[in-house]
Amino acid sequence: MSKDIVCSGIRPTGNLHLGNYFGALKNFVRMQDEYDCYFFIADYHSLTTHPTPGSIYQDARAILAAYIAAGLDPEKATIYLQSDLPETVELYLFFNMNAYLGELERVTSFKDKVRQNPNNVNAGLLTYPTLMAADILIHKATKVPVGKDQEQHLEMTRTFAQRFNSMYHTDLFPLPQAIGSATGLVKIPALNGAGKMGKSEGEASTIFLTDEPSVVRKKIMKAKTDLGPTQPNQTKPEEIENLFTLMRVVSTPETVQHFDDLYNNCQIRYGDLKKQLAEDMVAFVEPLRQRILELSSDEPQLRRILDMGRDKARASATRTLAEVRRVIGYRN
Ligand code: TYM
Repeated sequence: MSKDIVCSGIRPTGNLHLGNYFGALKNFVRMQDEYDCYFFIADYHSLTTHPTPGSIYQDARAILAAYIAAGLDPEKATIYLQSDLPETVELYLFFNMNAYLGELERVTSFKDKVRQNPNNVNAGLLTYPTLMAADILIHKATKVPVGKDQEQHLEMTRTFAQRFNSMYHTDLFPLPQAIGSATGLVKIPALNGAGKMGKSEGEASTIFLTDEPSVVRKKIMKAKTDLGPTQPNQTKPEEIENLFTLMRVVSTPETVQHFDDLYNNCQIRYGDLKKQLAEDMVAFVEPLRQRILELSSDEPQLRRILDMGRDKARASATRTLAEVRRVIGYRN
């Protein structure tokens, strides 16, 4: 039996952060031994919000270094740049022909972006989900490791796949599923207690894998807390629950239990909790940061990885595109 195909990507808009890591990259690494994996750097998608990025290749390299530092192996997974695969763009065009304005305008991430930046509501932003569908379906992937915020985009991918299949009377495309960790799709909260980590406007609330220990400590010590529990076993307010969520991903279960017990007995001191969280966070981030630094300076190695990935990705993409063109009726 052939292996399931996995595909996912991360945009190079700043350094990789804890949300990217636990929402996506950690699962890329976990899946590379079991499946036929395609992991790319979404450097076309960056233009939807950063139309003149200036250093797009440098930004993409930083993501690649983080991929390798986290344990992705270019011999096992196909690792490539989205912009090295023009076949994706042709598939994007075909999907756009059958994507409707109403459904694209209803996408939550589109509505958020319109609110945040009303002066740059471009067609690329509107068709973000069709480009994402093309990324995934160009390899006929069935599993897509992503964080919770991408759930709706995956739903749209299934819609476009299904619509294509029924319009052209084919079963060419699978209906891919969003995959999280064993406990489901992950959302890593921001340190200020508001929303998810990694929003571009929230750098002080985001822990990057490239943050130095002193920066990590400072960000955590500044995280928002309340006045403390007044009754045993009371429900935690969002900003406190968020600190516990972060603790659950970087600390031991015993540490989490210890502070949970203190909270439930109304004996917690948030300063102690933050100090422990900061140390556990530094212990988690620091080895990754060191490896990212080392790899970032090895340009020949990064280029070799990207060249190899491009060749493997194009072999898969040209096969799919030939079938797509044939079912629509184009000459191959
Ligand atoms: P991007 O670059 O915004 O985020 C990359 C991945 O990181 C996850 N993530 C989070 N997960 C949990 N908590 C957070 N705070 C958090 N912040 C980010 C995202 O869910 C995502 O999995 N559209 C994608 C990039 C993309 C893509 C694709 C993904 C383009 N084409 C095809 C999969 C398949 C994006 O914006 O990711």
